[in-house]
Amino acid sequence: MQNRITELFGIKYPIIQAGMVWASGWRLASAVSNAGGLGLIGAGSMYPEVLREHIHKCKATTDKPFGVNVPMLYPDLDKIMEIIIELGVKIVFTSAGNPKTWTAYLKENGITVVHVVSSVKFALKAQEAGVDAIVAEGFEAGGHNGRDETTTLTLIPSVKEKISIPLIAAGGIATGRSMLAVMVLGADGVQVGSRFVASDEASSHMLFKQKVVEAGEGDTQLTLKELAPVRLIKNKFYHDIQRAYENGASVEQLNALLGRSRAKRGMFEGDMEEGELEIGQVSAIIHDIQPASQIISEMIQEFEEAKAGITAL
Ligand SMILES: Cc1cc2nc3c(=O)[nH]c(=O)nc-3n(C[C@H](O)[C@H](O)[C@H](O)COP(=O)(O)O)c2cc1C
Repeated sequence: MQNRITELFGIKYPIIQAGMVWASGWRLASAVSNAGGLGLIGAGSMYPEVLREHIHKCKATTDKPFGVNVPMLYPDLDKIMEIIIELGVKIVFTSAGNPKTWTAYLKENGITVVHVVSSVKFALKAQEAGVDAIVAEGFEAGGHNGRDETTTLTLIPSVKEKISIPLIAAGGIATGRSMLAVMVLGADGVQVGSRFVASDEASSHMLFKQKVVEAGEGDTQLTLKELAPVRLIKNKFYHDIQRAYENGASVEQLNALLGRSRAKRGMFEGDMEEGELEIGQVSAIIHDIQPASQIISEMIQEFEEAKAGITAL
């Protein structure tokens, strides 16, 4: 399975475990890397010193490549980048911000840089900023998302048409079959989020993991476009947002409703009513909480079987 993505990162399989707030700490990242994928520590929910600890633990538990995801909408970015460089992390995935801000600096420090985008326009900007690869994330994805509602099925061939650097597909990919599908469309690898939330090693609260495996069709929705669009499970907090919209809430009122620490409250502390629960549409076909290594091996086996099936078509 060697291709541009496995070569870029020095990994066995072109499967990247997404960096995810309140889900992807050192335990998940090292388990995925040990299983032949690329594990990412999600720095978005970590104070700089917490990130330092996670990088140390990841290094102690895997000798395989791993990386850090840095969403650029959170504070302390200078400190976060300083720690990443100081501790010799070799791969950084940036998201939710301008790729020009950090790419050159990180690359000068010998780091492979990948940026997450939701449109062709932003993919071109990221390529121009000098990133080594792009994650193109479709509308189905869990967590923060683009405003244009471009689905993965449309986004991947559209981005492929315009960029030449390696392309990683994200959004709605949880099985080997969907991995094969996006690779047929032009992706060199996949970034998988929701399925790894439902893993033994994810740091998410057990009640949230259970909610993910119980979720069915139509149980998630993209909302809060006026703030930062995010796909959530429809729980009480989601319905409170809907009521606020119906009452003509202003951006300030939506911000006040969101408040602080909603995501932590839901995904990490397990408040299934009042917390913010970020997950993708694909949760509808995630039925089990499994070890990360089993998720990787099942995906690869299914990918190979589906590929063999295609040649028989
Ligand atoms: C719980 C959760 C938290 C997320 N947090 C982040 C994050 O901190 N940074 C980021 O770039 N993307 C984040 N995402 C998006 C993922 O990185 C990934 O692109 C997305 O989950 C892929 O779609 P899928 O959920 O359909 O697999 C998050 C997604 C989920 C489900």
